[in-house]
Amino acid sequence: MKRFLYLFSLLLCITGCYDHADLPSPDRCLYLTFQVTDDGTPQYAVKQDNIMQEDETVIDWSSMGFRCEEADLTKDFYMTGYKLRSRFDEWNTVWGEERTIEDQYYELEVRLKHRSGIRMNILFRAYDEGFAFRYVFPEQNGKLLTITDEATEYRFVADHEAWSIPWRTEYYEGLWAKAPLSQKDTMCSPITLELTNGTYAFIHEAALTDYPAQNLYMQDGALRTYLTPWLKGGKETPVKAYETMPFATPWRFVILAHDLQELTASRIMLNLNEPCRIEDTSWIKPMKFIGIWWGMHMKSMTWEQGPKHGATTRNMERYLRFAHDHHIQAVLAEGWNKGWEDWKSFSFTEPYDDWDMDYLSRLADSLGVQIIGHNETGGNAADYESVLDEAYAYHQAHHIHAIKTGYVAPIIRTSDGLQWNKGQSGVRHYRKVIETAARYHIAIDNHEPVMPTGLQRTYPNLMSQEGVRGQEWNAWSADGGSPASHVATLPFTRILAGPVDYTPGVFAFENPAMPGTRVHATLANQLGLFVCLYSPLQMACDLPENYMRHPDAFRFIEDVPCDWEQSMLIDGAIGEFCVFARQERGAENWYIGGINADEPREVTIPLDMLEPDSTYEAVIYRDGDDADWQTRPYDYVIDHRRLTAADTLHLRMAAGGGFAVSIKND
Ligand code: NOJ
Repeated sequence: MKRFLYLFSLLLCITGCYDHADLPSPDRCLYLTFQVTDDGTPQYAVKQDNIMQEDETVIDWSSMGFRCEEADLTKDFYMTGYKLRSRFDEWNTVWGEERTIEDQYYELEVRLKHRSGIRMNILFRAYDEGFAFRYVFPEQNGKLLTITDEATEYRFVADHEAWSIPWRTEYYEGLWAKAPLSQKDTMCSPITLELTNGTYAFIHEAALTDYPAQNLYMQDGALRTYLTPWLKGGKETPVKAYETMPFATPWRFVILAHDLQELTASRIMLNLNEPCRIEDTSWIKPMKFIGIWWGMHMKSMTWEQGPKHGATTRNMERYLRFAHDHHIQAVLAEGWNKGWEDWKSFSFTEPYDDWDMDYLSRLADSLGVQIIGHNETGGNAADYESVLDEAYAYHQAHHIHAIKTGYVAPIIRTSDGLQWNKGQSGVRHYRKVIETAARYHIAIDNHEPVMPTGLQRTYPNLMSQEGVRGQEWNAWSADGGSPASHVATLPFTRILAGPVDYTPGVFAFENPAMPGTRVHATLANQLGLFVCLYSPLQMACDLPENYMRHPDAFRFIEDVPCDWEQSMLIDGAIGEFCVFARQERGAENWYIGGINADEPREVTIPLDMLEPDSTYEAVIYRDGDDADWQTRPYDYVIDHRRLTAADTLHLRMAAGGGFAVSIKND
């Protein structure tokens, strides 16, 4: 009977019943239905698993469309046709959590015409573990659309638990808070849900280009979209986006995962982005780096010139030699350039006079270490854009292939005046930076970014981004540092949106300059972060002298790669703990990391991912028996063991604790 109903619905699709259309996922476990209601409102609904039963609806009829100055595009549509397509493909990443990504979906293109004459198509994709859609406006004589609202809804059938941060959170640097959807005020995209049936959802957007970032809020039982508005004279206007047809919006997507393994393994977001546009990617290299950085946040150094200036030639020389001696590929230096006195008039080509760029670049070359440049704009994106070519040519001439950019200002100044960084104008700026940098063979680590949406597939020189309450808050935050639960939330929330420059690896937890504020972690936890928090540019953030207090533990940081053949979540609970295993790209070696919030626990790790007939040398860096982030954070133990695929590890994690394991095939 079910099969018959399914065939019948497919037949309807093919023969054309022009007020609805259906789209199954390749495994038939997810089923999306589109309809146009009597008043011409486009709507979709989604069922999962037992798709023929009413109670398997995950998302009930949810409205779509736009309010525009030119027309109300929320109703008065009729369907003029539709098409079904499919794709069963795979592609290779330039760098990533895995080498190869499968891309398999069915696609439905619905063609709509509005009473005003405007044509709007909606592309839906159904994947086994989720769905996506985007609005596509075909060419209509170059006509403009001034979007005042996107009316996309997600009407989940129950009041699920959600993890999110409020939409006005500066730079997305908030603590992820859990509450039922009905109690949420405003939310940045993305959000993660635990559904009442124990499954998970993740809602976000992909391929955000020339359009404002989405935010979400609850109204009348539905999650609704609030696009980041344009500002005029620093005040919000009703306008969200100015578009000229043809154009397509970013994809909206929802992962519907049965468990956290499926959630963290989903690559829907990357699949929705366009393939790589950089022809020669050989210069784009995942790297671990140290930097003249933590000292400024701990207030023992300064960015600006003076007695405590951090980025001096001598200091950099020391960092470069340290990196060379400890197999760290690169060194970041902040405060090398003029402008830090007022954080406004930065130069990106003029070093302070105690920084000899020519000499340091030659030294870096001779040591085989890269310099990572730093371009803090103080939020003045317009000025930065005007000197981008000059700045990147200068860095390229000094053999710098990666730059950390920064936009410290809650509202940035773009060529359109003061704007939200995640508004349409900010999104355009970030895109211009990535594209320009690619031409100069420069990779970007973007701080104070717009939330990542997978653009790194198209521009793999966009390697890492902040957009998180990162480690630096543990140096100076007035609330005493981030709770361990915050970090244990990130792999299931922020990091699903893309690599994060969290800056793991603190080995000295208190800040004499800020009593009461500290890192809520044990030393073993800080090692576990290198595996749990994915970034292809991975900073070991502490000072060399702090690393040399624990050289045996620092060995793990020297060893651990940041580019992976494959990755898998072994175990976890959002905000409580996680354990990831990752295989080094191009090698047989595995690295396992665990991080924990405040409840001590033991985890069991089967090693059946190892080759069955091999024996491996493992080094296990774990919490000592008395470890606890508050009382004994430096209590760690290092065990050496020979392991095979038949073994199972049982590891205890302290409060704020964790572990790191390297498993090498010799
Ligand atoms: C904020 C960034 O997050 C931090 O990493 C950087 O050191 C400062 N801005 C200065 O650019």
